[in-house]
Amino acid sequence: MYQNLFLSFQAFPTYDALAQMEYLDMVLNETLRLYPIGGRLERVCKKDVEISGVFIPKGTVVMVPVFTLHRDQDLWPEPEEFRPERFSKKNKDSINPYIYLPFGTGPRNCLGMRFAIMNMKLALVRVLQNFSFKPCKETQIPLKLYTQGIIQPEKPIVLKVEPRDGSVSGA
Ligand code: HEM
Repeated sequence: MYQNLFLSFQAFPTYDALAQMEYLDMVLNETLRLYPIGGRLERVCKKDVEISGVFIPKGTVVMVPVFTLHRDQDLWPEPEEFRPERFSKKNKDSINPYIYLPFGTGPRNCLGMRFAIMNMKLALVRVLQNFSFKPCKETQIPLKLYTQGIIQPEKPIVLKVEPRDGSVSGA
């Protein structure tokens, strides 16, 4: 009820409208580059194989260092910087799909990828239609990550929230 009061000012975005929000898509992609939930992927080798001169025996666990690949300075200029333009229409086709892996790849990639992307966009748009977010004195800068298991902030991210109509302000 309380939530509905706040979130009812703006038109509800349609699926098509969300799909056309190109910059939002770029921002999500760049966020998942810097903060991939799965910081590494693993596969078990099902049979002996040789790839580019490297012999991998059956049963070996092969680890793909997603977090490291996403921040490799040989692959991404200024990798620590948040630059959504990396994923612009002009640039995104030059990104190697085996280097950018927020949802994994191959036959065991993320089953919920499209659903997750659409939901993240919908949630962001609905919230941003009504509120702005700004850093405040409690905001941890630089953000520290807890890296055991899935990638997540070490502490909750605290931001100042401002209603877009400018009526009330709070943290
Ligand atoms: C931002 C949100 C999400 C991210 C970043 C994410 C990421 C991933 C990653 C990295 C994998 C491993 C892929 C691989 O090993 O190649 C995975 C697997 C999987 N994800 Fe997601 N995921 C997200 C949301 C979801 C949602 C919403 C669902 C379901 C509705 C889902 C269902 C699955 C399933 C079932 C697998 C296992 C697929 C398999 O082993 O065949 N994920 N996800």
